Amino acid sequence: MKGSRLQAAKSLWLEAYNRFLFWRMFLIPITIEDMRKEDIDEILEIERTSFPSPWTREAFLAELKERDSSCFLVAKSEGRVVGYAGFWITFDEAHITNLAVHPEYRKKKIGERLIRFLLKLAVSKGAERATLEVRPSNSPAQNLYKKFGFEVGGIQKGYYSDTGEDALIMRNNNLTPSLTEERG
Ligand SMILES: CC(C)(COP(=O)(O)OP(=O)(O)OC[C@H]1O[C@@H](n2cnc3c(N)ncnc32)[C@H](O)[C@@H]1OP(=O)(O)O)[C@@H](O)C(=O)NCCC(=O)NCCS
Repeated sequence: MKGSRLQAAKSLWLEAYNRFLFWRMFLIPITIEDMRKEDIDEILEIERTSFPSPWTREAFLAELKERDSSCFLVAKSEGRVVGYAGFWITFDEAHITNLAVHPEYRKKKIGERLIRFLLKLAVSKGAERATLEVRPSNSPAQNLYKKFGFEVGGIQKGYYSDTGEDALIMRNNNLTPSLTEERG
């Protein structure tokens, strides 16, 4: 009995390690940095191709002015902005305000690396919980958030004024374990 449990633990560990080696071979190298004013032109290009109601330049500039409560990160590959994500923090709760990856760079774990970095940063600033809104039709984003322990906790009726769509409110009420567990 003990032997078979040990065997099962060993194979789980091996599977996780192989997955890690596999992804390390194919992941494109990125750096994750604080957003700067100079990044906004490239961010706006991604924003326009990613959302029906893109944020404006002024909205991003306003985030830069609110450094106490707002954090905005960019992922760069060879100096080019390939993704970004931001959150506001109030007491022990982080609210994810934005996340997008350049269409040509999607499905390369950039969104996942950004969210992991962002949530770790939020925890280092005192966040224990996180929330966000997502369109019910946006299953790529929902799947990504679920990998980080987010669950649907409610619905905000007619939240998206462009389409009249409701928003799903997703929550993670205990951030730390979701950042340390190995997720497939
Ligand atoms: C959502 C988004 C940020 C994901 O970024 P990404 O870099 O392509 O995602 P990753 O490669 O890191 O994928 C991580 C996980 O997300 C989920 N996911 C990503 N793309 C997906 C897709 N097309 N279909 C289903 N699930 C998907 C999967 O769970 C994936 O894990 P897996 O590879 O083990 O299956 C990207 O699709 C995007 O920019 N979309 C437009 C903007 C947007 O919707 N932002 C979210 C607003 S709430």
